[in-house]
Amino acid sequence: MRVTIGQLKEMKQKGEKIPMLTAYDYSTARFLDDTGIPIILVGDSLGMVVLGYESTIPVTMEDMLHHVKAVVRGTKRALIVGDMPLMTYHTSVSDALRNAARFIQEGGCQAIKLEGGEHMAETVRRIVECGIPVQGHIGLTPQSVHQLGGFKVVGRTPEAAVRLLNDARALEQAGAFSIVLETVPAPLARLITQKVSVPIIGIGAGPYCDGQVQVVHDLLGLYADFVPKHAKQYARLGEAIKAAVSDYIGEVKSGAFPTEKHSSTMDESILADLTRQG
Ligand code: KIV
Repeated sequence: MRVTIGQLKEMKQKGEKIPMLTAYDYSTARFLDDTGIPIILVGDSLGMVVLGYESTIPVTMEDMLHHVKAVVRGTKRALIVGDMPLMTYHTSVSDALRNAARFIQEGGCQAIKLEGGEHMAETVRRIVECGIPVQGHIGLTPQSVHQLGGFKVVGRTPEAAVRLLNDARALEQAGAFSIVLETVPAPLARLITQKVSVPIIGIGAGPYCDGQVQVVHDLLGLYADFVPKHAKQYARLGEAIKAAVSDYIGEVKSGAFPTEKHSSTMDESILADLTRQG
């Protein structure tokens, strides 16, 4: 039985912190699910950390569905959230409904996430009315990186802080089951977390949110391009990969790998016959 959006709301009510991570493939998703993590996001960050783009902007529906299906296959317990790519929910409410439904019907995930606050509230409401749980995403919204002028802290001016609180309230009113709050000053994130009844999941938004989300490649040291300020590396798997591959290269060159243990045998008489036949 997978974690439900009701259980996530209960966690907020009980003051139990909610850890969330991204995953993009079957094997990593299996490891994550084994830890009991309650919620996994197949983020459009896959555009950067898996596909090597400079931003999340080029990611398509087909990219997302391909990876959502793999993560769903690798998990039994976590609630899986699929991230809607740029322009798959902006052109009209009916496009948003159709694409949200593809995540659930074809991808097999249990919820979707989309970026935007007040201006997306009507779209969120309509998707929720169709029975599809929606996670909002406000603050630094990477799909709008060019409009925002870069990956910057959002909400430092009085106007921006009010706008952010209104965005969170609008999403709550529209029926979002949770909201991701990205790159927002910690005191403002605390206020929003207190004022809104649905779980606020922070990333670069300080310690007072109901939960935290991180990109799994940042956490595990698997993304070589840069380490964001908000990320903590709990492992350096990139270094471990390089060390293991160097050992492999060395052993192939020296003949130390493979050994008999990694090889299979056959009936010697068959080989002898073959050798005799020339
Ligand atoms: O795409 C993503 O991974 C995200 C998280 C950073 C919240 O949106």
